[in-house]
Amino acid sequence: ERQEARPYNKQRLLVVANRLPVSAVRRGEDSWSLEISAGGLVSALLGLKEFEARWIGWAGVNVPDEVGQKALTKALAEKRCIPVFLDEEIVHQYYNGYCNNILWPLFHYLGLPQEDRLATTRSFQSQFAAYKKANQMFADVVNEHYEEGDVVWCHDYHLMFLPKCLKEYNSKMKVGWFLHTPFPSSEIHRTLPSRSELLRSVLAADLVGFHTYDYARHFVSACTRILGLEGTPEGVEDQGRLTRVAAFPIGIDSERFIRALEVPDVIQHMKELKERFAGRKVMLGVDRLDMIKGIPQKILAFEKFLEEYANWRDKVVLLQIAVPTRTDVPEYQKLTSQVHEIVGRINGRFGTLTAVPIHHLDRSLDFYALCALYAVTDVALVTSLRDGMNLVSYEFVACQEAKKGVLILSEFAGAAQSLGAGAILVNPWNITEVATSIGQALNMSPEEREKRHRHNFHHVKTHTAQEWAETFVSELNDTVIEAQLRISK
Ligand code: G6P
Repeated sequence: ERQEARPYNKQRLLVVANRLPVSAVRRGEDSWSLEISAGGLVSALLGLKEFEARWIGWAGVNVPDEVGQKALTKALAEKRCIPVFLDEEIVHQYYNGYCNNILWPLFHYLGLPQEDRLATTRSFQSQFAAYKKANQMFADVVNEHYEEGDVVWCHDYHLMFLPKCLKEYNSKMKVGWFLHTPFPSSEIHRTLPSRSELLRSVLAADLVGFHTYDYARHFVSACTRILGLEGTPEGVEDQGRLTRVAAFPIGIDSERFIRALEVPDVIQHMKELKERFAGRKVMLGVDRLDMIKGIPQKILAFEKFLEEYANWRDKVVLLQIAVPTRTDVPEYQKLTSQVHEIVGRINGRFGTLTAVPIHHLDRSLDFYALCALYAVTDVALVTSLRDGMNLVSYEFVACQEAKKGVLILSEFAGAAQSLGAGAILVNPWNITEVATSIGQALNMSPEEREKRHRHNFHHVKTHTAQEWAETFVSELNDTVIEAQLRISK
């Protein structure tokens, strides 16, 4: 493939993540239609001033034939994306299995799967083997496209084995790894059978980043306790080699949300929503339909609120947008039925012929519809049981300059550390506390809402995704330079 010309002063950044920021649909034997997902992360990385970013990852589709693979590779190249092709069996064992049934729940304090211990142990081994194999496939693609001087930034729990594979190819490669989930307490983490191998592999990176200082500290503790290495204020040291470990809290592209509220379609949509829910306060939840988001807990707390605050019953509505995700993993299927059951029961209990208290949607909304919804919301409810950061809370705040609604936020989301002063913080497991907080939010004085909103809005505006990406990448460059200086001394 022809390499595009680039200004000589721009360094290349290879962003490696399990999923490419595109959705690919096959239209024919050799034709694909691609849609780029315009999230905050994508615009942050494409907007980097000093770097030219390329993405390497899985396109989310199975392409068994060479004709299809070639055509997709070509189409993706125009979007600066490079595919890693994973077959169905690997996806099943690596993505559904090891990533989403083992690492994801464990990192969110839900423990390892327990149904059948023997079966789990057996499948555990084959899933871990598939995980390593998949990581090696990512490494092969990175290596094929790597040019001297490139910076390689690996993302998330899917790719913990990647830093080691990359350094084995080329020890001079600048490798960073960032975890988007929590890193759990070392007491939880140590139950993972493959704990040492994964830690060692991550430590092969030059810089390891987390959303919060706590996650970074847990990681360092895991390395000192399990591997017996030395933790320093800078990171983790192993026989004179330092892996720098630090916190880099992510943000959103807040201007994109603020600007959206001036788009005529969005304004029209807001007007319709206001008419639709006139006379009622709007409460909103937006989550991927994932057990870590605490959706059942949130809905049960809302039920408790309706029980305890009878005068609010016909004056409030909860809109819950639950975006289906990882639908091949049984735990996620169970959650869907559980949520439907609870919503049905509560609507049966408190609904009337003309209105129901909960509108639950199992689907995503387009960006403009979502912005309109955020803007007309009185109270947003984020009740994650654990969450790396939770950017829904940031998006809500960005859209609330006019209304100054209240954010109820789980203390177990990374965002609690940045938006805690403006939000009402709750323990999502305490249904009564959440119900009381809903009452407090709905009754809050305009002055108090203004004060809280100011704090959060300022934070969301000044801590952007772009700044996050710039800080991480420049720190990675500095780390490598410092290491070279140490060696040459
Ligand atoms: C979390 C993870 C991401 C992941 C996203 C969507 O935010 O940290 O790495 O891409 O969920 O999940 P999915 O499995 O659909 O990629």
